[in-house]
Amino acid sequence: MEALYGGAVHRRVTILDLAGAKKRGEKWAMLTSYEQMTSKIFDQAGIPVLLVGDSAGNNFLGHENTIPVTVDELIPMTRAVVKASTRALVLADLPFGSYESSPELALATATRFFKEAGAMGVKIEGAHISIIEKLVASGIPVMGHVGLTPQALHQLGGYRVQGRTDGDAILTAALAIEKAGAFAIVLELVPAELAKAITDALTIPTVGIGAGIDCDAQVLVWTDLMGITENPPKLAKAYRNLRAEMAGAATEFAADVRSGNFPGPEHSFN
Ligand code: KIV
Repeated sequence: MEALYGGAVHRRVTILDLAGAKKRGEKWAMLTSYEQMTSKIFDQAGIPVLLVGDSAGNNFLGHENTIPVTVDELIPMTRAVVKASTRALVLADLPFGSYESSPELALATATRFFKEAGAMGVKIEGAHISIIEKLVASGIPVMGHVGLTPQALHQLGGYRVQGRTDGDAILTAALAIEKAGAFAIVLELVPAELAKAITDALTIPTVGIGAGIDCDAQVLVWTDLMGITENPPKLAKAYRNLRAEMAGAATEFAADVRSGNFPGPEHSFN
């Protein structure tokens, strides 16, 4: 296949394309998406992987963190993201409480995302090795996630950089996740040097978020990328200020309604 970027790709990106990109040293970008509008925009912009992240909890559903998010909430979001895209590999996060207790529960949950929403893979936080093995053996591509795993927020004592003193444990977990069959792994909020060591040690792509420049890919939450998030984390770069743009548009609209400037004749019917 052509390079992930720059080639005319008339089919969806697959996990084999991502493996090929790692071999070629070609970096790629992943974004979260929770509904059809952003899915279509990012898909047409050439983003090869879209994640229906449980970050929908604090970026879409109004929760304080990702912990309350349910499978029933993420399934319609995933379905919308799949339906609105034609090229991206669409992954769904398995939310807290929907997989940890057994490989069988994880398979049942992942199967719902596949059958009811059309997901093409799932992401799982933590080194749940037997669960990853079960899903992969059942034909479900798995993206791992180590470092800061937000579902373990209370266990970790907050959103803190991980691996400053126990980097070896994170490297060992990443190697075990690769061995279990994961096709890629998110490295969240770990020192850049550790992320480079993990990226060099693994044959599967690493997807960094707050993990420095040397990862094979980078992921951002889309509301952070667009400057919508009110108090964005340090790891995020806002490429636009859509918060100001949207607030400005809403204020102008309200003023036009009050002053009688909207609707104009061009928006009216005989
Ligand atoms: O839910 C999410 O958005 C994530 C990414 C930040 C990797 O897990």
